[in-house]
Amino acid sequence: MSVARITVLAGAAFCVASALGQATPPPADAALGRRVFIERCAKCHDENAAKPLPDGTSLVQRLAARPDLAAALASRTRKMTEAERRGLVLYMKNLVTNFRTQAVQ
Ligand code: HEC
Repeated sequence: MSVARITVLAGAAFCVASALGQATPPPADAALGRRVFIERCAKCHDENAAKPLPDGTSLVQRLAARPDLAAALASRTRKMTEAERRGLVLYMKNLVTNFRTQAVQ
């Protein structure tokens, strides 16, 4: 096998590895999302996003009514790192799930 051919194969293997790396990012970190929420959002929304807003609804209640959580949070998470954004979306998702569970009881 020629050196050129080996180089091409190595390049192809690297591309596949990179593509696989992008396809499997580390799992979203809800604990990181919780820290971010407490730091930057909880003074107005409380740690559980249930603090009443001026119209009497809460953030968690509003988010429970939205079909796409990441989209609903997009304007507030734009300046965050990828890990912070994914963690926050997962933390909010867990809060929304709890809210829905309580709402049907
Ligand atoms: C200074 C207070 C304050 C802070 C800090 C704050 N919010 Fe809010 N947020 C509000 C208020 C008040 C509203 C409701 C505005 C309204 O009546 O539409 C709101 C609304 C929202 C909504 C819109 C919900 C909807 O669909 O109507 C989202 C999403 C949201 N906040 C997320 C966040 C996130 C995430 C953070 C932290 C990164 C954050 N907020 C930090 C006060 C705050």
